[in-house]
Amino acid sequence: MTFNPLKEKGLPLEKQLRNWHQIVAKPYKKQKVDCYTRTRQILMNGIEVEGWGFKHQFNRFMAEIDCEDRANVSRIGRIENQQQMTCNWLCPEDQSVLETTLGYEQVAVDLTAWLAHNEPDKYVKETFDFGLLEDFDHLYRYAQYAYMREGIEPNDIVQGQTDVIIGRPTQHHHNCNGLRLRKHYDKNTASPQTKVNILTVLSGEQQTHNFYAEHGFMYGDHVLRETYAEIKDVEEEHVTMYESLIDPSETMFEKLLIHEFTEVCNYYTCLEDEVDDEIKKYWEIFLDIELGHLQTVSELFKKYEKRDPEEVIGSEIVIPCRFESQKTYVQKVLEKEINKRLAPDGEYYNSYDEIPDDWASYGVQKRVAEISAPSENCINVVEFYHDRDIVEANEHLKNKEVILLEKGLQKREVAYNTVYPDKLQKMIKKHDSRKEEKGKLI
Ligand SMILES: [Fe+2]
Ligand SMILES: [Fe+2]
Ligand SMILES: [Fe+2]
Ligand SMILES: [Fe+2]
Repeated sequence: MTFNPLKEKGLPLEKQLRNWHQIVAKPYKKQKVDCYTRTRQILMNGIEVEGWGFKHQFNRFMAEIDCEDRANVSRIGRIENQQQMTCNWLCPEDQSVLETTLGYEQVAVDLTAWLAHNEPDKYVKETFDFGLLEDFDHLYRYAQYAYMREGIEPNDIVQGQTDVIIGRPTQHHHNCNGLRLRKHYDKNTASPQTKVNILTVLSGEQQTHNFYAEHGFMYGDHVLRETYAEIKDVEEEHVTMYESLIDPSETMFEKLLIHEFTEVCNYYTCLEDEVDDEIKKYWEIFLDIELGHLQTVSELFKKYEKRDPEEVIGSEIVIPCRFESQKTYVQKVLEKEINKRLAPDGEYYNSYDEIPDDWASYGVQKRVAEISAPSENCINVVEFYHDRDIVEANEHLKNKEVILLEKGLQKREVAYNTVYPDKLQKMIKKHDSRKEEKGKLI
């Protein structure tokens, strides 16, 4: 039997306030936590930040609403705020910023790939695939610094579930804002799955941006700080891209409904999948809380819009965040679409050979990388530590790295400090021959 969230009462709003001991949960142990428990914790923090922020925007912009209804929206916002603290503070104090960063990019890769699999709208799926290859490259860039600064191997965090290898090079993620804007869905025909998928990934990307904004300065290494700045700016572009898929003519009440439905669907999935019994208890309570929010906002929707909430969110749960390994899918997209670029009017160039000389993103790329591209320096620097870049993938994919780079690099507006395929090839050879030498002595 399918689960219809609109038929569930959930926990009534007046019973949702929790005390400080309930709000501040016991953190997980970074040495023991399942990587997908960590990705759920990271994502749900992002979902709650968006849920909290939206209530404030709602009350700032909505004039035609009764005082008591406005107070209820504000009460819900306060509960989102409490949930956000619980989710975010499950993160332990000894998990470094770089370790958490690898967790954030693992969320982006495996979540976006799952959403692309399950997205009924072909155009939205294409946009997910496009963003996927950019976050995939971010994971690779940060993995170099995690190794150099803290001796962290990628699998210490991603636990063999996500490949770490070059993606569409980060220096080519910088675009003209106008090109980042995609075509939006039609609110009257889009499926609830599409609406929830987009709001889920958007919330994740927004929080990734916020995390880099608040933590990128915490390292003294200037090259690393610049890399956080560069990737943070790409996350800003991802927020722009994903939010542009949403129909801007949705009413605020409609958006309020989709927000609560998205929270319900995400906690429902977390509860189904969670392997940590202690954390699972939170997903269970929070699902009950969100069902209560959904009841409240459904009543507001009926009262002010005189419409049935089912018209907007349907009558069944959807699954937006099933975290599981997506290596096969990601590899397929990587090999096929690493050279894809953004075209005007929401279209795509399937390779950089199609890009015209007056492509609007060239100007942005030229300006931001006029001294150098920090995201390229990580490969230049890791050579001193490890002879070559840090990569985690099967042999088949590893052997294709130089070819992938060749295909992914543009011909124009390439930063002067770029690691070109021939240099990467030399690094790999050097590493392999040193490994042989070492093998003779140890
Ligand atoms: Fe919430
Ligand atoms: Fe990213
Ligand atoms: Fe991103
Ligand atoms: Fe909520």
